[in-house]
Parts: sequence; C-alpha cells; structure tokens
Amino acid sequence: MISTNDDKLILRERQLGIQILNKCSLNCKLCATYTQEYKRSGIEYISSIDEIMREIDAVFTLYDFIDDITVTGGEPLLHKDLDRILLYLLKYQNQYNVSRVFTNGTIIPDKNIIDMMKKFQAKLQIVVNHYGKLSKHTEDIKNISIEYGFNVRINDYSKENPYSGGWVDFGPLSEYRSYTDMDVIKQFNNCHEANWKCLIVYKGQLHLCPASLHGSLFKHFKPKEDEFIDFFDNSVSFEKKRQIAAGLGKKVITACQYCNGFDIKNSRRVVPAEQV
Ligand SMILES: C[S@@+](CC[C@H](N)C(=O)[O-])C[C@H]1O[C@@H](n2cnc3c(N)ncnc32)[C@H](O)[C@@H]1O
Repeated sequence: MISTNDDKLILRERQLGIQILNKCSLNCKLCATYTQEYKRSGIEYISSIDEIMREIDAVFTLYDFIDDITVTGGEPLLHKDLDRILLYLLKYQNQYNVSRVFTNGTIIPDKNIIDMMKKFQAKLQIVVNHYGKLSKHTEDIKNISIEYGFNVRINDYSKENPYSGGWVDFGPLSEYRSYTDMDVIKQFNNCHEANWKCLIVYKGQLHLCPASLHGSLFKHFKPKEDEFIDFFDNSVSFEKKRQIAAGLGKKVITACQYCNGFDIKNSRRVVPAEQV
C-alpha cells in the first residue's frame, strides 16, 4: 500500500515472510513452500546469516513499515543462526510491530532463542503450528513460555475445525493450467494470497506469494520484470524496485496460471501436514 505523508510516499504492508531455509523436520504433502518438491529434487538450501542480513536490510530500505514479519521455512528452528537473525531484525524494530517465528512444534527452542524471546517479548513471538501428534513439543514450548514469560501463540491445526479451516491444495507448480483470461482474473481477485499479499523473500528475491517465488526458483515459469524484486540485482534502480513493490498484488501474475489459488470460501481444504 502506498500513501502520502506530506510530500513523502509511504510504502507499508501488512505482512512479509522471510524464508530462511527449505530444510524441515516434517515431510508434509502439499506444503505451501513446496518443501517436498525441493526434497525430491535433492535441493537443500539454508540461507547464510550474511545473505539473510542483506535481505533484511533490503526489505527495510524498500518498505517504510511492515506490520508483521514472519520468519519461516522449512523449519526455522533448524537454522543454526536463528538467534542472530532475530537479533538483526530488532535493528529495524521501529519499522514493524512484531516478528514471529513459525514452528511446527517438533523442536524445543534452545537457550539462546528462549533468552531472546524473553528479553524482547514485546517484539517477538513464537507461533507453534500444532499438527497433533507430529508436533510432539507443543506442550513443552507452551510450558517454557509460561515459565520464562515469553510470547507464544498456538495455531491448532489438529482439531476438527482446524486453524484457518485447514490447508489448501495449491496444485503442482509445474503445470500450466490454461485458464481463460476471464477465469484467471477471477481466480486472482478471489485469491487470499494475492489480496492479503503473502509477500515472501528467499534467496534474495521478493515475490507476491510462495507460488510465484518457488515456481520461478524451480524455473517452471519466468515471472515478468514487474512481478518480483531481486534484492541482489543492482542493475535495477531503487526507485524502480519501490515502483514494483507498490504494484505487487494489483494485477494477475504469471504464477496464477500454475496455481489453484486460495479462495477462502470455496477452495477445497485438505488435512494439514499429512506426511508422505
Ligand atoms: C510452510 S510452514 C513453515 C513453518 C513451519 N515449519 C511450520 O510448519 O509452521 C508456514 C505456514 O504455512 C502453513 N501451510 C503450509 N502448507 C500450507 C497449505 N498447503 N495450505 C495452507 N497453509 C499451509 C503452515 O501451517 C504454517 O502456518
């Protein structure tokens, strides 16, 4: 969203995910960050702390404010430098409300993370996405949070009415769907990922949604120049990057033809975190 404050343009968004790795402790069918496709292809990519710091600098140079920052994966608690990543994010704490670490409840955070969660509880939160028996440490994390006094939210995907209605099948990224122009516009207009702007950064690239990011990283399709920002490409000017950022979510993107979309009311829901 762009608004004006006196003469200055303000670029503010609701949320942005920073994906820090594709390695995971679970093997979920239909994972929205396509971890199974990475596993099948033998591609494991853990972003280095230097790379992530560069991405964080780039994000907060580009945007004036982002309400929620999500640190995601893969499984973020498998990243050896997670504490340094969270600390680095705090450098920009005036430019976001809260940063959340998404975890699947399979791993107990180590002492460094717990100390940091406690110290910066106004700005940091752990979100445990609870997948029933798979998330064997959800209760432990909850208890530690009570003992140490830090901020935890549990999203329960295991109950009969799962959190957010359950998961969605985005379909294979490798398949061109041949939607008509009318149908693809309709899908885009009804897509939660596009409307909410599920902005995601990984490997130096910022995209509107995970399908656009991962489909282009896998080279299933080539996004148009105005559909993503490559933070590590200095041949595109800062002004142009701001222009692209301001335009994200305003029109259909290449990825829509390779995705089922996410219509909150009508998309078929699937069992969350079904293991393969
Ligand atoms: C990809 S996971 C990665 C972080 C962490 N490993 C976890 O499970 O929370 C990030 C978020 O995406 C959600 N998610 C994954 N696949 C999904 C799908 N197909 N539909 C809807 N949400 C999905 C997860 O439940 C979680 O809230």
